[in-house]
Amino acid sequence: MQRLIQAVINAGHGHVFQWWHTLDDAGKQSLLQQISLIDIAYLSDLYRSRREKAPAPSLQEITPAAVIGLPKSEEESVLHLGARRIGEKALQAGEVAAFVVAGGQATRLGVDVPKGAMEITPVKRKPIFQTHAEKILALSKRHGRSIPFYIMTSESNDRPTREFFEKNRNFGLDPANIFYFCQGMMPALDFEGKLVLDAKDHIFTSPNGHGGSIFALQRSGALDDMKRRGIKYIFYFQVDNVLINLADPVFLGYHIEAGAEMSAKVTAKRDAEEKVGVICQVNGKTTVIEYSDLSDEQRYAKNPDGSLRFSAGSIAIHVLNVDFVERLNLKENTLPFHIAEKAIPHLSSEGKLVKPRKKNGLKFEMFVFDALSLAEKTVVMEVDRNEEFAPVKNAEGEDSPQTARDLMVRLYAKWLNDAGAPVPRDKQGNVLGAIEISPLFALDFEELRSKLPLSYEVRLPLYLGP
Ligand code: UTP
Repeated sequence: MQRLIQAVINAGHGHVFQWWHTLDDAGKQSLLQQISLIDIAYLSDLYRSRREKAPAPSLQEITPAAVIGLPKSEEESVLHLGARRIGEKALQAGEVAAFVVAGGQATRLGVDVPKGAMEITPVKRKPIFQTHAEKILALSKRHGRSIPFYIMTSESNDRPTREFFEKNRNFGLDPANIFYFCQGMMPALDFEGKLVLDAKDHIFTSPNGHGGSIFALQRSGALDDMKRRGIKYIFYFQVDNVLINLADPVFLGYHIEAGAEMSAKVTAKRDAEEKVGVICQVNGKTTVIEYSDLSDEQRYAKNPDGSLRFSAGSIAIHVLNVDFVERLNLKENTLPFHIAEKAIPHLSSEGKLVKPRKKNGLKFEMFVFDALSLAEKTVVMEVDRNEEFAPVKNAEGEDSPQTARDLMVRLYAKWLNDAGAPVPRDKQGNVLGAIEISPLFALDFEELRSKLPLSYEVRLPLYLGP
């Protein structure tokens, strides 16, 4: 014990023992236990390197990623169909797992329940988790094989997430096919590079980023569980995308056909200024370049036809091979940490918790898309954002519950229209009421069309459920 305390003091973090004399044995034990798990030398290295950034690649060094575009010809539709068949075969063979990352803190949304527990659907106000669960149920039924559901949480929302599923009887999923696990946590540092206490016996930590999932999958035993079940492909998505086309067989099919290790879905950027990471090739490797890392020259670069040269916007939907995730776990620190200035809760000199509004320290996070450049082979596939991407990030305005609901209504209205059931709209084309189609009624347009009676009359609000 004395050795550990001395090592921490020598490393310049003696202040974490500031309240030691006031702690009971359990408090002392828990602080020491936490410290023993922190790699202080590694943290110091990260702190020292905080301003070092590899120079952004020049316009000549980066090229647009090869993207499988939206099918525009008969020939491309046939290719999509071929890919779909391959993906469906993998689903029927029970080789696909659904994996949602739900360990984030949802600070922008500011709700006191896990993000997935937030009520979202336009008519029934079903929670986000239920929309995912219903898709998994519908897919399992369609393909005749249950799809196991892996849910990554973090310290702060693990219990409420499990309790939420239990309370709702797992939304009809078999609990034997749900696997929860916690991601890793990472201590923050203040601007001087010091650990921060948020209780007299506790150092402030936060989830280590969605990239932490790569390591948590292994550490938690989830990968072993997958191997036991014969899973080969992990369909990765974020909890807050309520339009997720879960386990999309076309995407899976292209990934499998190409022998890829990790793949990504993209949507065409709305314009040069849209703040999303762009997938490109850098030195032959598929790489996501963050919006802020693109130079103006790169951001505005155009193709001869006037379209944006770098337009493949990343939407955080991936397929990863179980083998690939296992390989990434063979070495330490495979993914880099990204450093962000944040407001870090800390103790005042009187030992009271302070929650500052101003940024006062550094958080460290890994990003899952950094694994793309470590894959031997990748597939990048474009999809229509109106059909597959409705993120819930903010309480109001852009990317909020309201925009997500509007996008759901717009998509369901399009399906109904295309299936021959016109939807009441105003002169501007806005749908005059709410529409909700449960995945248990129809997972996609084709299924809706096959189920809708002839001359179906749409009355709003409309809910089509099981
Ligand atoms: P975001 O980066 O949007 O974070 O995560 P967030 O927690 O949802 O929201 P803010 O930034 O605090 O407002 C995108 C996805 O990655 C997951 C989130 O749960 C969400 O599904 N995530 C993020 C994790 O699972 N772990 C993390 O450490 C960070």
